[in-house]
Amino acid sequence: MSSFFPTRGFLGTGATFAADINLVVQLIMGAALITGLVLAKQKRYQAHGICQTTVLLLNLLMIGLVMWPSFREQVRPSLRKVVHNWYYAAAAGHAVLGITAELLGLYIVIVAGTDILPLWLRFKHWKRWMQTELVLWFIVLVSGVGTYYVWYMAPVR
Ligand code: HEM
Repeated sequence: MSSFFPTRGFLGTGATFAADINLVVQLIMGAALITGLVLAKQKRYQAHGICQTTVLLLNLLMIGLVMWPSFREQVRPSLRKVVHNWYYAAAAGHAVLGITAELLGLYIVIVAGTDILPLWLRFKHWKRWMQTELVLWFIVLVSGVGTYYVWYMAPVR
């Protein structure tokens, strides 16, 4: 990853360039999801579907390029320290929630946009599933911002 992005970030927090880009992209994607919600409220369902699916797929890219490599290199080797250390606990909790949100989102997109799943694997209460996903996503977003704070901004004790 370090060869893909420049090293130094641009937000003045001491974070890496990849972390700063990820933070900005995640906040923009959060705003895009709210826009998608408004589209659904206006009954513009096709535009809503395109908007939410684009965010979900773009996030797969951000996980693959930034968050998974960072988790693999900095968190996974020290998982035993999760209980005692905020640095690892914040990222590990965030990663578990993030994987759940991404998988749930992919499931919803497959049910809503295709016919490939058998009837017994398809949900009927679309609104409830999508609302749950949106709430979970924003919890993950807040936990991601929390991870950024703990990693790059909180005073070292
Ligand atoms: C809905 C899905 C997700 C959202 C909205 C989200 C959001 C964020 C945000 C806003 C940050 C702070 C910016 C940064 O430090 O890079 C972050 C960082 C991070 N996320 Fe996620 N994330 C999601 C999924 C995941 C997943 C699936 C993993 C597990 C591999 C993960 C692991 C991490 C790690 C390790 C960091 C710290 C990266 C670093 O600073 O080097 N995230 N995330």
